[in-house]
Amino acid sequence: MKILCVGGAGYIGSFVARGLHSKGYQVEVLDNLSSGHRAALFTEIKLHHIDYGEVSEEFLSGFNYFILLAGKIRVDESMDNPWLYWHENVFKLANFLDKIPQDSVVIYSSSAAVYKPKNHPLKESDYLGPSSVYGATKAAAESLIEHLALDKNKIRAICLRYFNAAGASADGKFGEDHSPETHLIPLLCKFALGQTERFVIFGDDWETADGTCVRDFIHVEDLAAAHILALEFLKKSDARFEVINLGAGTGFSVKQVISELETILQRKLKIEVSAKRPGDVPFLVADIQKAKDLLNWSPSFTLSDILKSALQFHKSKPTGYPDFDS
Ligand SMILES: NC(=O)c1ccc[n+]([C@@H]2O[C@H](COP(=O)([O-])OP(=O)(O)OC[C@H]3O[C@@H](n4cnc5c(N)ncnc54)[C@H](O)[C@@H]3O)[C@@H](O)[C@H]2O)c1
Repeated sequence: MKILCVGGAGYIGSFVARGLHSKGYQVEVLDNLSSGHRAALFTEIKLHHIDYGEVSEEFLSGFNYFILLAGKIRVDESMDNPWLYWHENVFKLANFLDKIPQDSVVIYSSSAAVYKPKNHPLKESDYLGPSSVYGATKAAAESLIEHLALDKNKIRAICLRYFNAAGASADGKFGEDHSPETHLIPLLCKFALGQTERFVIFGDDWETADGTCVRDFIHVEDLAAAHILALEFLKKSDARFEVINLGAGTGFSVKQVISELETILQRKLKIEVSAKRPGDVPFLVADIQKAKDLLNWSPSFTLSDILKSALQFHKSKPTGYPDFDS
């Protein structure tokens, strides 16, 4: 297995790349460092500092397993600048997939944002209908990959639909560092640590038990472990294409997450409420039976573990990773 982890210097990708490296896999990272960090990787992991839209067929011929995490990830930005999202997440992906060797194995980072959630928990077979441009680009990418796997017989692939990735390494050395940050748990931890002035809930009048959105938070270490199992599954089986949800299988409302953090800190946080954001939905909770059955995977970290590790990361790195390229 010669593995290329594309977008491997990012939040989730760096956990995947470090996880693979620690287990002795031959893994290299390709990243344009637009939102990733060299410091999120062990120095022994080779980083190709290139845009995934600009790689050559010759370079890609050196690999046969591809983990594709690169792309733009912000729902709000995708609503303001749809073309950027189609360009980065779909056009560049199509170009990249066109160049990889015949019979490659692909693991693609999809998202719960592809669903039109009419019920919960959400099964892989449930109705798709993204409510954001970001989600639409992830759904289009899945279709592209499915076509290359099933109709063109070029690749074998698994699309992993992540729910809300969160948390940091237990030692607090590696964690989530996006700029700007839009994700609930890092925003909340940074606020609790006094690193930001405000924390705002986007809408408390959703049709949920306490009026705030319900999400499924999955520890990034659990996600990373699932990637390794997905690679091994495709190596050992002749499966051509699968879509698999990765979440904890349990939903927590924004207010419940805040309350859990207040319990850890043993103090109350002063939270503000503003209007709903375009592209949000009230519930996103995963049915994870397929991941259990097919990959023999189940999440091992709790919401409390996620919050404690994230707090530790933001405490030890208040301004995030040091910025240097190599
Ligand atoms: N974070 C989540 O909760 C979540 C949930 C669902 C799906 N996802 C998906 O998982 C993937 C990783 O998310 P993340 O939170 O780690 O994001 P991230 O921004 O931390 O990581 C993305 C990485 O891709 C790199 N990148 C972006 N455009 C590139 C390009 N054109 N060429 C080369 N490298 C490029 C960035 O520099 C970064 O290192 C994304 O595809 C995202 O859509 C994330």
